[in-house]
Amino acid sequence: MTPLFETERLIIRTWIPESDAEQAFKIYNDPEVTYFLGNGARVPTIKLQHQRLIENIERSRRRNNGTGSWAIVDKQTTTIVGTILLKELPDQDGLPTHDYEVGWHLRRASWGKGYATEAGQGMLKYGFNILNLPVIYAVVKPENHASIRVTQRLNMKPMGQTKNYYGIELLLFQLHAPGEKSGERGAASREQGAGGRER
Ligand SMILES: CC(C)(COP(=O)(O)OP(=O)(O)OC[C@H]1O[C@@H](n2cnc3c(N)ncnc32)[C@H](O)[C@@H]1OP(=O)(O)O)[C@@H](O)C(=O)NCCC(=O)NCCS
Repeated sequence: MTPLFETERLIIRTWIPESDAEQAFKIYNDPEVTYFLGNGARVPTIKLQHQRLIENIERSRRRNNGTGSWAIVDKQTTTIVGTILLKELPDQDGLPTHDYEVGWHLRRASWGKGYATEAGQGMLKYGFNILNLPVIYAVVKPENHASIRVTQRLNMKPMGQTKNYYGIELLLFQLHAPGEKSGERGAASREQGAGGRER
């Protein structure tokens, strides 16, 4: 399988449900990992994890716009250490907003090694250079300090709190494509500070 891209230590590739479900389950069955994700619910069985990966790939195929979520593989061990994603942010009703987010989930055993930052750097480059996005966001629950630190290492700019996405209060971070003048494009920059539109 052709990787989406490689970094120094990592390969970013499409999930393979049959062979990856068990390793994905190690990530999404862990309450420490899922605590800050969505509603915090863990994936209860490998079978359901397998199904989730299939649905995930199917959704990406339908969107057919280069967005999705991919496995992060450690080159040295070939272990899946996490997920890196780039996808359109939904509003509170799940409808598209035309704003795109980068996101990262690592299995517990792979925290503290810089993998989220390294995969995030690669994903931002992919979003800017291949998908031609003018701006990429990250949204983080306010208490998720480890994730906020990742946005800082990626030089993403804190834009304050927003309720424009997922229907919950989140911290918003943004990064403009190299050469894009900040303040010209993107929802968060259309309105100051609070990071987004009024509805
Ligand atoms: C958020 C999450 C991905 C952050 O993981 P992380 O390991 O802290 O982040 P990184 O992979 O960027 O690693 C950075 C850490 O590795 C250390 N590190 C070691 N080698 C490094 C290297 N080569 N490069 C960068 N950092 C390195 C850094 O010092 C830093 O540790 P510190 O925060 O204690 O200073 C992880 O906590 C996680 O998966 N949480 C659950 C899911 C989640 O909440 N996702 C985010 C939703 S918004």
